[in-house]
Amino acid sequence: MKAQIVFASMTGNNEDMAEILEEDLQDLGIDVESIDISFADASSFEEADLCIVVTYTYGEGVMTDELKDFYDQLLELDLTGKKFAVMGSGDKTYKDHYCENVYDFEKAFTKIGAIEAAKPVTIENAVEDDDIALIDQAAKEMAGSLNG
Ligand SMILES: Cc1cc2nc3c(=O)[nH]c(=O)nc-3n(C[C@H](O)[C@H](O)[C@H](O)COP(=O)(O)O)c2cc1C
Repeated sequence: MKAQIVFASMTGNNEDMAEILEEDLQDLGIDVESIDISFADASSFEEADLCIVVTYTYGEGVMTDELKDFYDQLLELDLTGKKFAVMGSGDKTYKDHYCENVYDFEKAFTKIGAIEAAKPVTIENAVEDDDIALIDQAAKEMAGSLNG
């Protein structure tokens, strides 16, 4: 089984999340490739069983150019039957826009036929111990969905 993680990170928080998730999935016996969104092409998800986006949200939910480019590519795909998951770090001071781009990607994956393997994990700013436990749990759900 192969997982593809695409992460968007400016100050490192989402990159840290992606790294923790990558290690978790590897420990669960999954072959994982992780790539920065600025170098990624959404079509790489066509080769994966589990498609994952780990993303920041900046600018009150308005996507940055690198996010929007990838998002538009994603919407061109048909990922019917594949599993997906989304997660990200944001900041609750942005209220209704908290982790908004995480949910944008959740909707996009659903729209193109993918099946959610685990509920979105959203954390505030830097990764802390409690957050690691949430990521670990989500990784187990993702692995379980591939076996199910
Ligand atoms: C100018 C600016 C705008 C932001 N806008 C949002 C936002 O709309 N929603 C949100 O949840 N977080 C927002 N954040 C917080 C970041 O998403 C948060 O710090 C995140 O951990 C950054 O991830 P990164 O370290 O991977 O870049 C904003 C931060 C800055 C500096």
